[in-house]
Amino acid sequence: MPTPRVLVADDQRDVLEALRLLLKGEGFEVETAASPAAILAALGMGDFDAALMDLNYTRDTTSGREGLDLLTQIQALDATLPVIVMTAWGSVDGAVEAMRRGARDYIEKPWDNARLLTQLKTQVELARALRLSARLAEQNRLLGRDGFPELIVESAAMQPVLRLMERVGPSDAAVLVTGEHGTGKELVAQWLHASSPRAPRSLVTVNVGGLSEGVFESELFGHVKGAFTDAKADRTGRFELADGGTLFLDEIANVPLGQQAKLLRVLQTGEVERVGSSRTRRVDVRVIAATNADLKAEVATGRFREDLLFRLNTVEIHLPPLRARREDILPIATQCLRRQAARYRKPLTGFDRPAMEALHAHGWPGNVRELEHAVERAVLLATGEMVHAGDLALEAPSGPAASLEEMTLEDVEKVLIEKALARFGGNVSQAAKQLGVSRSALYRRLKSHGL
Ligand SMILES: Nc1ncnc2c1ncn2[C@@H]1O[C@H](COP(=O)(O)OP(=O)(O)OP(=O)(O)O)[C@@H](O)[C@H]1O
Ligand SMILES: [Mg+2]
Repeated sequence: MPTPRVLVADDQRDVLEALRLLLKGEGFEVETAASPAAILAALGMGDFDAALMDLNYTRDTTSGREGLDLLTQIQALDATLPVIVMTAWGSVDGAVEAMRRGARDYIEKPWDNARLLTQLKTQVELARALRLSARLAEQNRLLGRDGFPELIVESAAMQPVLRLMERVGPSDAAVLVTGEHGTGKELVAQWLHASSPRAPRSLVTVNVGGLSEGVFESELFGHVKGAFTDAKADRTGRFELADGGTLFLDEIANVPLGQQAKLLRVLQTGEVERVGSSRTRRVDVRVIAATNADLKAEVATGRFREDLLFRLNTVEIHLPPLRARREDILPIATQCLRRQAARYRKPLTGFDRPAMEALHAHGWPGNVRELEHAVERAVLLATGEMVHAGDLALEAPSGPAASLEEMTLEDVEKVLIEKALARFGGNVSQAAKQLGVSRSALYRRLKSHGL
């Protein structure tokens, strides 16, 4: 994250100096202003992540009127700038009026350093999230890049990923997207397709891991009428449908060995034969594959063909789990909140501080998908203008907090699934086997639990 810039405004030199030292020590870049005119001048010049300002200035030292008028002017200059006002201890009325005029938070003097820092950091983070989503929407509008899915990547960990995506997106390279459940693999595939010259043609998605032996070939390669008993008419396979475009092969690790050989042949030759026909058709398809398994390990144990892996992973894009890129949590949550609030027509403006802290601290085993579910649920439950921590209902999933007797059947199921997935490194097939359900049944449950 770039260094946050803060404007600190007060007419008392010692206050300015104390705050400047405190904030510099915490890695903030600090500008100071000692009068309303200086504040407006500074805001006109620079780009700030937040302003911390006193309400009283020398012209009229007690009523706070000057500060309140100033707030209105700042709002007019930049409504996205978070302003935290400082008020004299006990003057809650002033703080309330300030919040009404657009201040995001207030702090009483004399202030508590730790508390002030938390408030400031929270506001900086939230404002960045809001500004980013506004910027993204604007970029999409300006570039007319409507085909681009909204991908939020603020964290340092995602910057190399984004650069790699930008480099390989426009090429025809086969890309293997890896990462845990819900990390955004499909979204990345959409983004890559949108950024390629193939964008005007189709992106065809096939969950190859979920196809049964019987339908695999006819689904991918098509069939002709009469090829088998149920083949009542000709059928175009997904490879042909994707001709000129991109084929997204999802859950690739779950394809059995026999079918891997068939897939490899088509990838090598670029030719498909519909089942029951000997006519070959050339297809021009770019392949993107995704998996949450470690394919190299699958190769080592003989469950995945090495030659197929080499065909698929010309470039590998690995998406880190959300817990390894916590700076993305709030921006994604904020974006999601805006979308869901509009959808459910709720007048929600954001998360309150404990809610933000809870979002930040949670482990997110289900990654972005779990985050989206949590925010959607919270939007439905929230009653006021802010989402509260309670609305998010983020219980620690693996903690010994709830004893079995106190858990619902749903919760027990979720815990067991999480444990099985963790045990097999996210491999759904193996987890399903251990849990005694079919792979597709486990997938359904994963979705319903938001995992
Ligand atoms: N960086 C991101 N910014 C915004 N939304 C995201 C981001 N990453 C993922 N999402 C959203 O999270 C959800 C899950 O993403 P996606 O379906 O791409 O994950 P996945 O890795 O394919 O999951 P699975 O392994 O379960 O198939 C989607 O709604 C997607 O739009
Ligand atoms: Mg997916």
